[in-house]
Amino acid sequence: MTRPQVVLGVSGGIAAYKAVELLRQLTESGHDVTVVPTAAALSFVGEPTWAALSGRPVATSVWTDVHEVPHVRIGQAADLVVVAPATADLLAKAAAGLADDLLTNTLLTARCPVVFAPAMHTEMWEHPATQANVATLRARGCLVVEPAVGRLTGADSGKGRLPDPVELAAVCRRVLAGVDQDLAGRRVVVSAGGTREHLDPVRFLGNRSSGKQGWALARTAQARGAEVVVVAANVALPEPAGVKVVRVTSALELRDAVLAEAVSADVVVMAAAVADYRPVERLATKRKKTDTLQVELVQNPDVLGELVAARSADQVLVGFAAETGDADGSVLDHGRAKLARKGCDLLVVNEVGETGHPTGFEGESNAAVVLAADGAAVEVPLGSKEALADRVWDLVRERLH
Ligand code: PMT
Repeated sequence: MTRPQVVLGVSGGIAAYKAVELLRQLTESGHDVTVVPTAAALSFVGEPTWAALSGRPVATSVWTDVHEVPHVRIGQAADLVVVAPATADLLAKAAAGLADDLLTNTLLTARCPVVFAPAMHTEMWEHPATQANVATLRARGCLVVEPAVGRLTGADSGKGRLPDPVELAAVCRRVLAGVDQDLAGRRVVVSAGGTREHLDPVRFLGNRSSGKQGWALARTAQARGAEVVVVAANVALPEPAGVKVVRVTSALELRDAVLAEAVSADVVVMAAAVADYRPVERLATKRKKTDTLQVELVQNPDVLGELVAARSADQVLVGFAAETGDADGSVLDHGRAKLARKGCDLLVVNEVGETGHPTGFEGESNAAVVLAADGAAVEVPLGSKEALADRVWDLVRERLH
């Protein structure tokens, strides 16, 4: 099998150091990568690093190896061009069609998918000139990944960070696989992770949700063109590229965040494991040890139930059911009863068990039966959490007007 040919364009921003890890991710997952830095990028990371890790010669100028006509050949031969980081200056040049170095020439000659991963200070990202350039590039069919929010170069924080290289590599693999943009123009909200209900400043009631299933839903929706918000309860994973992440701790915080984001959403998927109960009292100081301890609990609001009550006519609502079979019924029996109680459009029923169980909490795999309000039942066999997520989006897509 021929290895996909990827061009990694690197422009002159401090996040160039993270592109080194992106290069590593791409080469180690079977891609041939040609790195084309701008001259400014070499001020941050030198040519030997790119050459050693890609195993290929590196040039910035159209005047190097002219007999091989690199300013045309590199772009023509590429299956994917990804520019990470893409500075405001590089985006402006690409939008205007300028070609004053090897990278901008490559962008003009490439006929393959092009991904830009911008990274810059928030003010530069939000400037109308940059936003207009991003809109131009998106209108031409390029994928411009939204920057992440967090610590910037100095002491300040805001939108403008380069997304995690592992997540950027996942975006590249999906673009190379030719994912259909069937959720373009849709706004989706996904809840992920497990809530924590505090007893005191150091102890909480929680569950084993890692957030992997919710992350997979967010990542796949983003790759299919949706604008994605994840409400994340205690998830310790690198943030999916191009996704807005709202951090929460408790079920009440999750409720407020999900209900606020759901107002303008076409789809809400509740993959989070939300605590059904919270302690009546949260102590301000650490509880002292006693022989026995009784904790009084009160019910948390049913967020999915509230979403169903407040829904607009064309909003699609998806719940997950984490089930074990018992003397009262099978996993599916309990799932069917839960769908009837909750009133959502789809309920993804996955069996959960102890640590090491192949489905449900913590692991990389999952299997489910997706029950629909119209009576349909779709079985999704054991596979990756991304495969289940993609199947869920297929079923959501069929229900979107
Ligand atoms: O994060 P991972 O480690 O990858 O694990 C994934 C998962 C097992 C957590 C996920 O696949 C899953 O099953 N999520 C739902 C877990 C859950 O809370 O199930 P439930 O059967 O208790 O709740 C049913 C539905 O109601 C869920 O959509 C839940 O988000 C929602 N709910 C529950 C309680 C509550 N107070 N409000 C709610 O909205």
